[in-house]
Amino acid sequence: MTKKVLFIIGSLRKNSFNRQLAAKCREILMQKGAEISELEYSGIPFMNQDSEKPVPESISRIRAEVAAADGIWIFTPEYNFAVPGVLKNLLDWLSRPLVPGDFTSGTAIAGKKVTISGVGGKNATKNVRADLKKLLDFIKTEVICGEGNGFAADGTAFQTDLLTLNENDIAVLKKQADEFLKAI
Ligand SMILES: Cc1cc2nc3c(=O)[nH]c(=O)nc-3n(C[C@H](O)[C@H](O)[C@H](O)COP(=O)(O)O)c2cc1C
Repeated sequence: MTKKVLFIIGSLRKNSFNRQLAAKCREILMQKGAEISELEYSGIPFMNQDSEKPVPESISRIRAEVAAADGIWIFTPEYNFAVPGVLKNLLDWLSRPLVPGDFTSGTAIAGKKVTISGVGGKNATKNVRADLKKLLDFIKTEVICGEGNGFAADGTAFQTDLLTLNENDIAVLKKQADEFLKAI
């Protein structure tokens, strides 16, 4: 059966390096027969418990997309050693009960298989990936490949806005893709 992988990109930037990494990963996964879609979540509201009931339409939509996925691949930058606010806000919404106020109703993301990649500066998103792993464990996802893999954009990338991946980077991505597809 075709595996459905949902991409979540933790940067809203048009030329985001993480979006560029996701594009490469999409190629790799498609060659392996997976079906890829990207979660569009730029318009969701800020988490505010006053807004949880009735469930906003945009939140119902993202929850349905998450529910339909066999696996989720998160590509994230590191903002001040931590998870970017937009991604944290999205995960906060996905961590809330499907039926507002009913904590037995489950969440859209609990039990989902998730894997992590990140492109950032010199430390290759080491801190954000560790933080994200903890958060994903807490919201009861099944994290595949631990803290995932990080890639460092070099000075040229920051000047040209073009991420260059070398052979080793591609090999790392392919290995993660294989492990993830096997797990989902
Ligand atoms: C608010 C902010 C905080 C940042 N903090 C870090 C950081 O802690 N570590 C890091 O490696 N890069 C940091 N950066 C630089 C990002 O790695 C860089 O902007 C990267 O291109 C963002 O990912 P994107 O290209 O996918 O948008 C920060 C950027 C912003 C805007």
